[in-house]
Amino acid sequence: MVLRMPAGRMVGRDDELGRLLTLLDDAEAGRSVAALVSGDAGVGKTRLVSEVTRLAEGRGFTVLSGQCAELGDSVPYLPLADALRGAAQSTGVRDALSSRPALSRLLPEGGDGQRADEDRSGLARQQMFGGVLGLLTELAAATPVLLVLEDLHWADASTRDLVTFLSRMLHRERVALIGTYRTDDLHRRHPLRPVVAELLRLPSVTAVDLAPLIPSALAEHLTATLAEHLMAAAPGRIEAIELNDIVARAEGNAYYAEELLAAFVGGDPAERRALPAGLAALLLSRVEQLSDPAQRVLRTAAVAGRRADDELVRAASGLAADEYEAAVREAVTHQLLVTDSMEGYVFRHALLREAVYADLLPGERTRLHGTMSTLLAEEQRLAMPGTAAELAQHCLASHDIPGAFAASVRAGEEAGRLGAPAEAHRHYDQALALWERVAEPEKTAGLARAKLGLLSATHAADSGDYERAIHLLRRLRQVLVAQADEGTGPEDVKLTSRIGERLASYLMLMEDRKAAAEAVEVARATVDATPAEPPTWQYARAISTYANTQLAEDDYTIAREQAERGRAVARAAGAPWVEADALVTLGFISNREGRNDEAIKLLTEAHKQAREAKDLGVELRAANHLAQAHLELGDLAIGAAVAHEGTKRANQTGLGLAPFGLDVQHLHFQCHFADGKWDHAQEIADGFPVRVTSAPEAFLSSMALFIDIARDNPAVTERLAWIEPFWSGHGFDGFIARSLLAEHALWRGDTEQAISAAQLAIDLVNEPPWGYFPSVIRPAAIALSARADRAVRARATGDEETAAAEVAAAAELRQIAREGAAFRKRPKFVLGPEGRGWLARAEAHYRRASGDNDPQAWQAVLDAFGPMYVYETARTQWRLAEALAEAGRRDEAAEQWHQAAQTADKLHARPLRRALDDLARRARIGTAEQHGDGTVLAGLTSREREVLRLIAAGRSNREIASVLFIAPKTASVHVSNILGKLGAASRTEAAAIAHREGLVSQPSAR
Ligand SMILES: Nc1ncnc2c1ncn2[C@@H]1O[C@H](COP(=O)(O)OP(=O)(O)O)[C@@H](O)[C@H]1O
Ligand SMILES: [Mg+2]
Repeated sequence: MVLRMPAGRMVGRDDELGRLLTLLDDAEAGRSVAALVSGDAGVGKTRLVSEVTRLAEGRGFTVLSGQCAELGDSVPYLPLADALRGAAQSTGVRDALSSRPALSRLLPEGGDGQRADEDRSGLARQQMFGGVLGLLTELAAATPVLLVLEDLHWADASTRDLVTFLSRMLHRERVALIGTYRTDDLHRRHPLRPVVAELLRLPSVTAVDLAPLIPSALAEHLTATLAEHLMAAAPGRIEAIELNDIVARAEGNAYYAEELLAAFVGGDPAERRALPAGLAALLLSRVEQLSDPAQRVLRTAAVAGRRADDELVRAASGLAADEYEAAVREAVTHQLLVTDSMEGYVFRHALLREAVYADLLPGERTRLHGTMSTLLAEEQRLAMPGTAAELAQHCLASHDIPGAFAASVRAGEEAGRLGAPAEAHRHYDQALALWERVAEPEKTAGLARAKLGLLSATHAADSGDYERAIHLLRRLRQVLVAQADEGTGPEDVKLTSRIGERLASYLMLMEDRKAAAEAVEVARATVDATPAEPPTWQYARAISTYANTQLAEDDYTIAREQAERGRAVARAAGAPWVEADALVTLGFISNREGRNDEAIKLLTEAHKQAREAKDLGVELRAANHLAQAHLELGDLAIGAAVAHEGTKRANQTGLGLAPFGLDVQHLHFQCHFADGKWDHAQEIADGFPVRVTSAPEAFLSSMALFIDIARDNPAVTERLAWIEPFWSGHGFDGFIARSLLAEHALWRGDTEQAISAAQLAIDLVNEPPWGYFPSVIRPAAIALSARADRAVRARATGDEETAAAEVAAAAELRQIAREGAAFRKRPKFVLGPEGRGWLARAEAHYRRASGDNDPQAWQAVLDAFGPMYVYETARTQWRLAEALAEAGRRDEAAEQWHQAAQTADKLHARPLRRALDDLARRARIGTAEQHGDGTVLAGLTSREREVLRLIAAGRSNREIASVLFIAPKTASVHVSNILGKLGAASRTEAAAIAHREGLVSQPSAR
């Protein structure tokens, strides 16, 4: 008699279920969220998640659900492939997939699969990640999406990276992600550990840890199972005491409990008391009750993996078709295998597979792996994505070294094509390790050893592990140099050239002086060692890379010479992508040397050429430099168009966060921030990640601060909090973020913080012996503005000493700004309108600090920016209005004020609007927004209210006079009148009334 295991009611998980359902609510409301469900094997993770899945489907979610497999950690993106395959019947998913070839390659019918040469392989992973993000976003626009990835402790490295990527990038999409993993398998050095730790730091990620079920819940589950069983079959009574015994032995593990119950009910009543201890032994005792063929099927399936293809297991089991079917049916009846929606059967629980596998005799195991290898090596099976990686494992397990070697090479190629460089590197490395143990390795692999080494290294680099790549390439170079005397053919020479060229490019990325020097050395030696005739793309590439290593030098002469040579050789060799890249370098140099018209011509040509050569990386690099050149010239409309087009290309191809893909996005934003199309700018900025965990993302988030600070958006706090950990980190210099933090502080009247943040930014763009870069002008002007505020205030209180100190500090800052504008390092550099505008602003603030707030100085700022810079114009008009008011030119002041206010309102530039209101009240120009005052204050004139506000702020009569542009005598008259009207005995009392009546609750800029 056999116990049926129905998917009965879920017991004892109300809390956990509730938390996961909240996740669905969040996703529906457009807040992307993730949960990590953890617990021991058999405790009920899958059961809980399937409950959530069922409810989600009922609520109209699109559910994608994929499984990792124990043998699968070398198969790239296995759970994702599984999830996509499972959902591919849905038209929405099919449509979304069909426009994303990078993703369709995961499926059996698999998309195109051209192999990128190692020169252009670097973008595959980003395309894959971008593709998944795009797919989820597209699906979530129609219905909310639930993505379930089960058993992540077995996930491959690429999947782990993908999970991290999605958790950070998904923000407002209607997507919920649930991952599960086993806690009992997560030993201290398990690669999932750091991933879990990182994910749990994100505010959107929740941990749901499943404790053992409490005895009463377990008892309830068993009773229900039994009851259902009793209805279905003849009674197999079980005493309460026996049930309690099972509950006690299972220690809260639902699966263990079920197996115990099954053994109890199914076994011989006489043997009930003598059940083996421990789950594995129990499971095996259940297996042993089956017929021989059924046991053989289980053993074969255990070697094949948890979810094995039915036809494969049959073939490997060696059973005839009818015998096999009977055996499977028997295993299903005993609840050891269950039918799987996709193809055939799976073990009811992974623990069963593990127990059966562990019980195989050594020889038997080797033999079964061998059989499996033979079957998988058939071309038809091998063509299925992921099979080569599995084959390599079966070969290794059956000690078939040549087979493992060949399969590893193939698995490496496949992983590379799928955008899983970590796995590709791993497989190529495996093949390298086996090289010497194979009879004809070069013939088997179809590759020279050095080529295999090069592939291993480039994929390590593409997975982000540059240090490993550099290490491998250095070793390869040494070996090749040692062999050089033995006579080398033309292919060897090309390979050597590639190895040197890749080494030089990776060294350049290390952002370290020693590595940069080595890069120059290696690049030069590589050019020298590569034959010039006949012209080859390898030679052209080596020269262009040598040119790029020279871009860090002060003098661009060599860089330009080499780039020109590289371009000519590339043309002769018919390598348009290398030609385009060299042309970008030339355009970049022209831009740096101040010949911007020439730069734009070259870069426009390079951009076109890269697109025709279908090299995305170069195309984006060209788009970036071209948009930048336009922006610097103040051609905001063209700059925006180029950057927008680049952004679209990057997003379409999943490269939005790749180098230059990221840059065109921020340039697109910059152009619209400058030209005043702020609704568009805000939309772009909102797309920049907030919960950043890498330097490039922190950079992008800093860009969003331009608008978030100018509008005083609530996002500012969260962005700053996430950026901060990167301030001292590698690869993120924090310059922009600090400059903007200084502005933020200044808007809030905190001159202290404004000055210190600006100073930190200033220090970052000083390179001895050359001195400051032009980017210093902006933070210097912000610090100057703060100094001017303090000088004005000091002077108002008669504190001439402080005022003089502030002026001295301001003079230093002005000097820094001027030095930056002169840019000694690149004397040919020409400052664009933005730089000139900020420089003029620095000069004007200096005059304001000196007590000579000259309208003409502000007019010069307006002229330097030009009217295209909408926000900067309004900001300047505010200061111009103030200066005009101080000079008694009230009508002109009012006109500037009105224009500025209009722009501030249009842009929703709240801090600027508040500053304008403040100026309006003080100078009595314009129309400050009215704030409802209490009746007590109704008797005061608007002027008197302003004075009261200042009294409440602790200002003396002299300060009040200065702030309000009136004589001290007049101020003291106002004060007496106010005290009289309020019936206040003192200034303190008047201040208290002002607070009580809410007059001073409004933040005032000064
Ligand atoms: N809360 C529960 N209520 C009822 N049955 C449960 C519960 N938790 C687990 N089970 C049952 O126990 C067995 C093992 O659970 P499973 O979810 O597969 O464990 P895990 O995924 O954690 O390894 C399954 O048969 C499942 O239906
Ligand atoms: Mg499970």
